[in-house]
Amino acid sequence: MKILVTGGTGYIGSHTVVELQQAGYEVVIIDNLSNSNREVLKGIEAITGKAPVFVEGDCTDINTLRKLFEENPGIQGIINFAASKAVGESVQKPLLYYRNNLNTLINLLECMPEYGVKGIVFSSSCTVYGEPDVNPIDETAPIKPATSPYGNTKQISEEIITDYVHSGAPIKSIILRYFNPIGAHPSAKIGELPLGVPQNLVPYLTQTAAGIRKELTVFGDDYNTPDGSCIRDYIDVVDLAKAHVVAMRRMLDGEDTDSIEIFNLGTGRGVSVLELIHDFELSTGMAVPHKIGPRREGDIEQIWAIPDKANNVLGWTAETPVGETLANAWRWQCSLK
Ligand code: NAD
Ligand code: UFG
Repeated sequence: MKILVTGGTGYIGSHTVVELQQAGYEVVIIDNLSNSNREVLKGIEAITGKAPVFVEGDCTDINTLRKLFEENPGIQGIINFAASKAVGESVQKPLLYYRNNLNTLINLLECMPEYGVKGIVFSSSCTVYGEPDVNPIDETAPIKPATSPYGNTKQISEEIITDYVHSGAPIKSIILRYFNPIGAHPSAKIGELPLGVPQNLVPYLTQTAAGIRKELTVFGDDYNTPDGSCIRDYIDVVDLAKAHVVAMRRMLDGEDTDSIEIFNLGTGRGVSVLELIHDFELSTGMAVPHKIGPRREGDIEQIWAIPDKANNVLGWTAETPVGETLANAWRWQCSLK
């Protein structure tokens, strides 16, 4: 079975391509390399023994997509990772975010019936829940007003997919709301490659342990949490990638499944920033120089998932202990030297 993976040379996309190929799927990637590197294809080939078909192109151009579908007939499913994802940048450049993230999705949806593509798995985010009233949260938790244009693109994307499926379009969709993906493939052949100074916790942490950054700043220790630092649900990127394979199988093979389904993808465990630093130091033996700084504007205090629906309905569970995930992130950081 042939699957189109948009954004397939990116962080989560590349790990998912590996899992799809290992599960026997044929993969076609489209990526414009705006936030990734062609070298990733070599990593995928080194792990799986097979190079995916790669199209360098932009999903906001529908003619590029039509050409891809014509040249690669028989694509049955799409996983749409392609998007711009930097929350801070989205506040500075909202139109870039709305244009890129929404046009990409609309073009893909428009092409699906034209080329007989049956289903689309969409990368959404726990950011759609905003600051939850209670934790942990399941999929029925209210959607809060978005705190950034990036977050808004995820909310609007979910609505676009829902409206299109409800209009009677001959497609199915699974929307996956990721919590905080971290780590790297255990082979250290693929991982996260942030451009410039990392904004996210784990790449900043591994670069600090490697001596590239002087010290990590913990953004606030005066939150209403047991140790005062923010709490997240950190999910191993390979576990996350595996969920896409299960979702694709359910969407394309499941006869009686709903046309549209939404799943939280998290571990069900909330971990604070200070705990994560401690876990990293324990599992790698590396010290992470860090200091407490002011809160980061726009941060959510605490959010973690009830992953029961994914566990019970998809039959998928996040299995990797956080220490092992952090050790993999460190192995990947060391491989970059
Ligand atoms: P990433 O930036 O590593 O990967 C996205 C890929 O899409 C990149 O390779 C980029 O070059 C490509 N791309 C962007 N716009 C494109 C376009 N118009 N045409 C073709 N290719 C394009 O990001 P990621 O962390 O792998 O995230 C993948 C998806 O998951 C995104 O939709 C993101 O919003 C979502 N997500 C990520 C996180 C996270 O913390 N990483 C959390 C929740 C949701
Ligand atoms: N943090 C620090 N120091 C740093 C970086 C981060 O203390 O140098 C803290 C943050 O304050 C936060 C936690 O580490 O409490 C996690 O921060 P990240 O930036 O790694 O992740 P976020 O939870 O802020 O956001 C991520 C993605 C978003 C996505 C969101 C929910 O970056 O794109 O998860 O899916 F929307």
